[in-house]
Amino acid sequence: MTVLEVLQSTTGYFQKRNIDSPRLNAEHLLAHVLSRKRMELYLDFDRQVRESELAPLRELVKRRGSGEPLQHLLGTVEFCGRSFRCDKRALVPRPETEQLVELLISHLKSEIACSRIIDVGTGSGVIALTLAAEFPTAEIVGADISDDALMLARENAERLKLADRVLFLRSNLLESIQPDFDLIVANLPYVSADDRENLSREVLHDPEVALFAGSRGDELMRQLINDAPSWLRPGGMLAMEIGLGQSEALVAALAEKNYRDILTEKDYSGVIRFLFARYG
Ligand SMILES: C[S@@+](CC[C@H](N)C(=O)[O-])C[C@H]1O[C@@H](n2cnc3c(N)ncnc32)[C@H](O)[C@@H]1O
Repeated sequence: MTVLEVLQSTTGYFQKRNIDSPRLNAEHLLAHVLSRKRMELYLDFDRQVRESELAPLRELVKRRGSGEPLQHLLGTVEFCGRSFRCDKRALVPRPETEQLVELLISHLKSEIACSRIIDVGTGSGVIALTLAAEFPTAEIVGADISDDALMLARENAERLKLADRVLFLRSNLLESIQPDFDLIVANLPYVSADDRENLSREVLHDPEVALFAGSRGDELMRQLINDAPSWLRPGGMLAMEIGLGQSEALVAALAEKNYRDILTEKDYSGVIRFLFARYG
């Protein structure tokens, strides 16, 4: 079979299994097996794919067809222009979270250059490590309750040559962390336990501890809103990614706790997804 024929048949297989973006998934997996960049396939449509290449591809295609996330099969994910290791030890980073980091970088550029920052619920470390790469003079901590996630985050720090820049610590929210921070950023679990049956097959491959946060879904974020003032320097900022429909209650919780400059931002699909507020 040629590269083009493999792409066409794999795309058809994924379509039948209701995989989103079937052609793109086929291209990523074939490029991975051939150790080529995805766009290079376009220069090589007529190349014959050898049986020794087809066998591993078939295995990956089968796994993708049964709902395993593409990023787990590739072993990596792109986040804000950098490549991170990605596997079942932590949540697959989402495009919305890239937007959170981009907002922080553009709005706070001068402010966070020399500041002390913590990423609470760091997972694979994408937020902490991207901020470390963008702000070489900032002091950065990544905290998570999951040892598996912390192991992956440390591997990503090594991979990006940022291991001496970010301190990864095990902590339940801020419990084991020394204050004071200029910025607390968090993408904590925000799915309600009742929503489990609405999640896609792919999302169910993420660790439970990365998805669920009690019966409402916003319990951990409420706790963080409550705790953060004691860990923030005067005028410091709390920035959070939140779930669909959670903004009203969380904005009220921020106001009740006397945060100021409370701001919401929508993601690219128009959902209020990010909260920013300062304390003191
Ligand atoms: C939605 S994932 C986000 C991962 C990563 N920050 C990202 O954006 O891709 C939430 C993370 O919070 C961690 N977590 C859950 N409960 C926690 C808690 N009580 N304290 C600290 N981290 C927690 C999970 O282990 C998981 O890594």
